[in-house]
Amino acid sequence: MSEIAKIELGGTTYEFPVIEGTENEKAIDISNLRAATGYVTLDTGYKNTGATTSSITFLDGEEGILKYRGYPIEELAEKATFIEVAYLLIYGNLPTTTELEKFRSNITKHTLVHEDMKQFFEAYPAKAHPMGVLSSMVCSLSTFYPESLDPNRSPEAKDLTILRLLAKLPTLAAWAYKNSTRHPFMYPKNEFDYCKNFLYMMFAMPTEEFKVDPVVVDALNKLFILHADHEQNCSTSTVRIVGSSQANLYASISAGISALWGPLHGGANQEVIEMLEKIHADGGDVDKWVLKAKDKEDPFRLMGFGHRVYKNFDPRAKIIKKACDDILTKLGVNDPLLAIAKKLEQVALEDEYFKARNLYPNVDFYSGIIYKALGIPTEMFTVMFAIGRLPGWIAQWKEMTENKEPIGRPRQIYTGEVLRTYVPIEKR
Ligand code: ACO
Repeated sequence: MSEIAKIELGGTTYEFPVIEGTENEKAIDISNLRAATGYVTLDTGYKNTGATTSSITFLDGEEGILKYRGYPIEELAEKATFIEVAYLLIYGNLPTTTELEKFRSNITKHTLVHEDMKQFFEAYPAKAHPMGVLSSMVCSLSTFYPESLDPNRSPEAKDLTILRLLAKLPTLAAWAYKNSTRHPFMYPKNEFDYCKNFLYMMFAMPTEEFKVDPVVVDALNKLFILHADHEQNCSTSTVRIVGSSQANLYASISAGISALWGPLHGGANQEVIEMLEKIHADGGDVDKWVLKAKDKEDPFRLMGFGHRVYKNFDPRAKIIKKACDDILTKLGVNDPLLAIAKKLEQVALEDEYFKARNLYPNVDFYSGIIYKALGIPTEMFTVMFAIGRLPGWIAQWKEMTENKEPIGRPRQIYTGEVLRTYVPIEKR
């Protein structure tokens, strides 16, 4: 017999079904709660609230497990390409050779952005943060494809918008960087694969031959895979909730990019490097900074530490830490920040404050050191995260539209004034 949850309110017992996911996760289905009882639930920050059922990503924060469509992240990071993983997330299965070739070639057909968009870039100041530029540019894409304003026009139209986004995001991201340096934009080179093409648009110059170490391309591929989806996090929930109003996909992804920008979310990778640089410049006394992070009067937090759902370890951080060592060795980079990061991790992991609160390094703790070794400027770190996360946002949006989920609209408990009478301004 299936499990039932009982809630007693004002002497009456109400029953609610318990639903179970394929990994035995359990939830009390309260979709009928308000209609049956007149009550709502209160859960700020949605710490206990499942907003949807989903078959894309499974995450067990206690055990440190992360799987995309049933495939462990460790296996995908080791063996797959980012484009294969993008296909897997969006369409549900790993592609066959024919499917992958078609997907790849369709993406390369759309890597150019409209020439008129170059004027938008040029209007931004050189010091504009690239996340602000990227979010605006992605929303601006919708103005060039008015037929995409109805996100549910047809499955073919949906697929075309998905391809355009996957194809154009690296171009827009690289051009945001080129614009900040006031260097000429490099047009995509479609004989290169996804990651190499991005590096080409970022770093190539018209006057020089472009050369890139395959170690750098592989590292980028791995980082993008590790960031590709993470179920109902802040930016993904934003994409789903904006999309639930049937706003177009460009607008929904643009909103996701804005949500990712915050330092408590994707913006943490930039903050981590800035924090490590500060500690290094301050003499490298790690204990002093750990003390600061524990001091409740001090707003300083150890960036790259802690996670809403991982309370044991973040499996992505484990892979990234190892990749960081490998990549720096292969590239012959000796970064003092890596030594500080490792010491900080060791001190924090042995400290009672961090142990009691289950605070471990998250995905952002070591990724910045890799990006730095690859030559990516610090302000572009969160942009890199956005490129990696794009397939996950798209997959989650697609699932939400295909499930015909209702508009996202939480309730509240009102705590303001009950009734006041308007007082003319001269009498206030
Ligand atoms: N440094 C010091 N103390 C911390 C840290 C930290 N990085 N993170 C959490 N704590 C403490 C809090 O002060 C709190 O202590 P208290 O119980 O004594 O009040 C306790 O740990 C719980 O923290 P919350 O903020 O309530 O946990 P929540 O789940 O809401 O937040 C978050 C998770 C936002 C990730 C938090 O750990 C944090 O701010 N980390 C630093 C920023 C960061 O690295 N973000 C990236 C997350 S990964 C990602 O989004 C891709």
